[in-house]
Parts: sequence; structure tokens; C-alpha cells
Amino acid sequence: MTPEERISELRKQVNYHLYRYHVLDAPVISDAEYDELFRELAALEAEHPELVTPDSPTQRAGAEPLDAFEKVAHPAPILSLANAFNADDLRAWRTRIGRYLPDPEMALDYVVEPKLDGLTVVLTYQNGLFVQGATRGNGEVGEDITQNLRTIRSLPQRIPIDPNSDLAPPPVLVVRGEAFFPLDKFEQFNLARMEAGEAAYMNPRNAAAGSLRQLDSMITAARPLTLYVYDFIFWEGGEIPAKQWDRLALLRQLGFPVSPDNQYCPDLDAVAAAYDGWIEKRNQLNYEIDGMVVKINDRPLADSLGFVGKDPRGAIAMKFPAQERTTKLLDVQVSVGRTGILAPAGVLEPVEIGGVTVRNATLHNYDEIARKDIRIGDTVIVKRAGDVIPYIIGPVVDLRDGSERVIEKPTHCPVCGETAVQPEGEVAIYCDNPACPEQLARRVAYFVSREAMDIDSFGSQTAVLLIEKGLIHDIADIYTLQRDQLLELEGFKEKKADNLLAGIEASKAQPAERVLTALGIRYVGGVVAGLLLDALGGIDALAAAGQDELEAIEGIGPETAVNIITWFANEKNQAILQKLRAAGLNFTVEKPESNEKANTLDGLTFVITGTLPGMSRNEAKALIEAHGGKVTGSVSKKTSYLLAGEKAGSKLTKAKALGIPIVDENGLRLLLTS
Ligand code: IVH
Repeated sequence: MTPEERISELRKQVNYHLYRYHVLDAPVISDAEYDELFRELAALEAEHPELVTPDSPTQRAGAEPLDAFEKVAHPAPILSLANAFNADDLRAWRTRIGRYLPDPEMALDYVVEPKLDGLTVVLTYQNGLFVQGATRGNGEVGEDITQNLRTIRSLPQRIPIDPNSDLAPPPVLVVRGEAFFPLDKFEQFNLARMEAGEAAYMNPRNAAAGSLRQLDSMITAARPLTLYVYDFIFWEGGEIPAKQWDRLALLRQLGFPVSPDNQYCPDLDAVAAAYDGWIEKRNQLNYEIDGMVVKINDRPLADSLGFVGKDPRGAIAMKFPAQERTTKLLDVQVSVGRTGILAPAGVLEPVEIGGVTVRNATLHNYDEIARKDIRIGDTVIVKRAGDVIPYIIGPVVDLRDGSERVIEKPTHCPVCGETAVQPEGEVAIYCDNPACPEQLARRVAYFVSREAMDIDSFGSQTAVLLIEKGLIHDIADIYTLQRDQLLELEGFKEKKADNLLAGIEASKAQPAERVLTALGIRYVGGVVAGLLLDALGGIDALAAAGQDELEAIEGIGPETAVNIITWFANEKNQAILQKLRAAGLNFTVEKPESNEKANTLDGLTFVITGTLPGMSRNEAKALIEAHGGKVTGSVSKKTSYLLAGEKAGSKLTKAKALGIPIVDENGLRLLLTS
């Protein structure tokens, strides 16, 4: 094989596995195998730079920054939709369009789709290759954001994506979709921004828009954006299916991410029922929606109905009741984070929004408060989206009566009273006292949390209690807790004390990676901890590493390196490390398991579903396979165990129905060692 052929082969494979992972959520190779393919490709391309093309998966990391976005004309207008707000409006729409149908009463079927509150994108493929991505703009002309869209892992660089597909790549294909910021990533992302001193995004939509409008696509590449595609705009040399439902199926077949929540509705009653269903489940989805789109399934018929202004008659957006209410801002409470960040939160006059009573709302930071001129006593507009914490959109200035009070930046920590500091160039304000009891409580809560040492029996209330009673002064002190000390605490009976101690004891077996994560060093979460220890082998080697050595590790930037060095240079932290070592925690990466232990899962077949707290699904798969087990994609009678994490869906239901044993991550660990 020539290098050119091999490169082409590798690209196909890497793209296919990205698709299995990011679109189908069903990887068929381990992370390590994927990395190997990717590395081989990157190495070959480095040797033959003339063979690098923009569709190569190596180019997803971002490209040279732009000075400005170019304008692009769309091949057909990118239209919008008229709105309906309830079932009556829906029926009125059906009656209205009757006048334009061959028979006003004719039976129609429909497709309903989530109306994603993201950013419309228009994607162009030539001979199967992704060549251009644009924003909607004014519907006729948008902006060229190809470089940024290329970084989205779920966006196919080449279609059909399945190397075995018998679909021919069309000469020109233009599709439309919506790019968005998944909700489960949003709060964590914003928090990290704030901790890094950057302004938080107001909501997931702004975060998506802000990410796609970066002139430097490297920044976009670091954001967890994704998209769903829902329509064909143009297909040269091919026939777009007549039915919307078939269009969605074909898009999926080509390799585009298509919402799994789209529904076929045989009649209007089914649409109305779907609407009620969506309102119920909208807060459980991992993306923000502001309604659902109802489309007549027969698209040529729908198109023949014409337009009202720019809105086609053949489809309608059914908006949901806005999850926005006005209420009074009673007070602003300042909470102290693990890193000392002083975060303002609004205390509200309780208000019901979308079936939930809201009492608190994020105010992000003090710059934001000043910019919006939010005052205590103001009537404010509060919005709820998904399960993320509600936020304050802004004040209703006209309702002020003069008694409102301006919100001042804190000059002292509200808990320990130490002076607050605002580092140069950051929007965040910090409590600078590492002994601050609230910071300590947060650090302990993080130390024992699922992402870190995973001590189930250790709640955040327990942390507060232990600190209050002076039983712990730092995270390491939890390993010196005595049974009789615990029994003196309010609410602690023997069983509770023993559970807590057993949990603490068991945590000593956690791998070094978790110990490092649990230290709570800024920017060193589970993934970074893994990278560091893979490279250095242990926490002591990390403590001894210099700036250059750290930055040479892939995935470690200068800021992370500085934080690591500063953390280890601190004497108090050194003392904590000594105590943790004395307690018997793992400081070095364990050697691979011996062969004798390796086959504990021989003959067992696993299916993995949901989000696991401590490992990615690929890691779980690799772990199972390393112990002789097999991992398959779907639950059947032959499945031995379902490994289920959070947000497990239909696979869990099916496993339950078939009576297949269900284990969580801890259960899997038990199986490995039994
Ligand atoms: S169809 C003429 N389908 O909602 C066809 N739109 O006003 C119009 N949107 O600007 C679009 N999800 O950005 C359609 N599944 C979906 C959608 C969707 C979100 C957005 C789109 C459009 C607005 C409709």
C-alpha cells in the first residue's frame, strides 16, 4: 500500500469510529485502538504534509485563526416558521391550510421534531466531502464558519460515513441542522470558565453561538458542541425522499446525527398528544428546546401549500409555555467554592416555573450584575431551561419604586471574614484564605465525591459537621477519624458511623489517578489526572516535575502546569500529601493485573449504557475486555450483565424486562476482583 492509500484508509476508519462514538454512541473499538489509528494517521501525515487535506480527522483540532468570516449565499432560502401555542392553534392551522389542499378534509400524517434552541447551520458536501458550513444569517446570506464546524466531532467530514454503505456520495448535497451545547456539559463548562476568571455564558444557546463565532477554531474545538440535522436543502444528482420521515432516515443512513426524539404522528390527535408529552419531558432532555416543529410528512404536498411571508404553510412551530416568570429578587447570597471563588446567587420570592418551585437563580458574577444593573428588591425575569440552575435574565426597570439597593462586590469572605481579592484580568472574586471553613467543606465534599475518591457514605452535610466540630482540618484528616468521635456527633448511630468508616477504609484502594483528582488542583480533573499519571507514573514524580516537563505532556497547557507547580510548592499541601501517604493511599500507577486475575470475566457478555461516574464507556469496555469479558451493543437474552450508569434509557428498560442482572460501576469492580 502506498502512503497515500494508507492515509485514505486510515481517514475512513478514524472517521467511522468517531461516528460510532459521537453519533451512534456505540463504539466498536477501545479508546486505545482508536488512538493507535489516529496516531498512525497523524504520523503519516507529518511525513507527507502534501497529503494533508481539510477533511482529515487530524484537522478537527482547529486551524489558523481567521480575521473575519466570509459571507456565503445559500442555494435556497433558509426559512423560518410560524408559531402555534396550544392545541387550538394547531387545529386552526390545519383548518387554514385545508383551503390550499386538493381536499380540505384529506387525511394527513405528520412528523414532529424537537425545536432545538441552538444555531441553524447549513452544511455543504461535494462528492461526499464536507466543504462548507454556514450560519443562517438573514436566510439568504450567512457566514462561513466551516473551520469551526469541522471541530464538531459528530459532524461527518465525509458521507456516507459507513465504509460499507452502498449509497453513492452525491455530487452536491446541502443539509440543514441545528448546532447546540449539550446541557449536561453546560454548567460544568461555565464553572470552569468562572474559575479561570472568564465571564460565564448566560445560557446554553449563547454558549453555542459564542463557540461557533470564534475566529480561532482551536477555541471551538475545546467546546463540547454537537448538532442534529433535520432537512435536505439541495441534492444535485439525487432524489430527496418525498416523506419527511424518510428524509430523516436517509440523513441518519448517510451518517448525520439525527435527533432520536423525532416522532411519526399518523394524525393531528397524535400531534396534540406528542405536544403534551414533550412539555412533560422537555426538562429531561440533554438539549434546550423551546417547542416542537410539526411537519406535514408529505413534503411535496407541504411545499405546494406556499408561504405566508417567509413562513411555509406546510409546517408550524408549536412553542411551549415559556419557562420564564417574573418575581422579586429578595437578596443576594454569596457562596464560597472549593477554589475560594465567591459566587453570587439570587434569593427569589418563590415562583413556579414549569412545574418546579424556583427559589434561587444564578447571577454568574459581579460584572454581569453591574452590566445588567440588577438590584436587590427588583422585579426580575427568571428563566429555567432543562435541569440547569435557573438564571436571571434581567430586571424590569419600569417596576422600580426607588427602594431597590445596588449590589456591591464583596470585600470580605462572608464565611471566614478574610479579605476578598479579584485577580488582575479576572471577573471572579476569591476568598484568599485556604483555611476558610466553607472552602474546606467544599474541598472535602469534592474529595469524597463520585468523580474523586467515591466514598458513598460521606455526604456534604457530614463534611460540614466534622469541620464544625473540629474533627478535620484538611482533606487528609478524614483518614484519622475514630469511631468514638463519630458516635458523639449528632445523628450518628453505630450503623452510620460504621458505614462511614468502612467507606473511608475502602477508598484507600482507589487508584492513584483518583487520588490525584481528589486533591482538587485547579484544572486537574479526572481526564488530566489520567494524562499526567500515564506520562509520569506517580504523584511524587508529578510533584517533582518542572514547567517544561509538564507542558511536554500532551493535553497539558501552561496554566495547568503553573497551577500544579504552585500547588505542590505549598507547604500545607505537602503536609496533606504526607498524611495521605501515611494513610496508605495509592500514589503510583498500578502495574497491569497479573494473568491469573485477568480472566475473571471469561465467558461473560456485557452491555454498557448511560454515563458512568468514574470512567468513560470506552474505558469500561477496555477494562471488561482486559478481564476476558465481551461487550456488545444491544441487550438480548445472551447478555450476562447490563453495566448501567446515569441517564440509562431503553437498554435499562429492556434488561429489566428480560430479567438481566444490572450492575453499576462499583458492581463491575466487584466482579473484576471476585
Ligand atoms: S424546520 C421551513 N426543524 O426553529 C423549515 N426548524 O422558526 C423551517 N429549528 O429557524 C425549519 N429545530 O432554526 C425546523 N427540527 C427543526 C428545528 C428547527 C430547530 C429552528 C430553526 C428555525 C426555527 C423555526
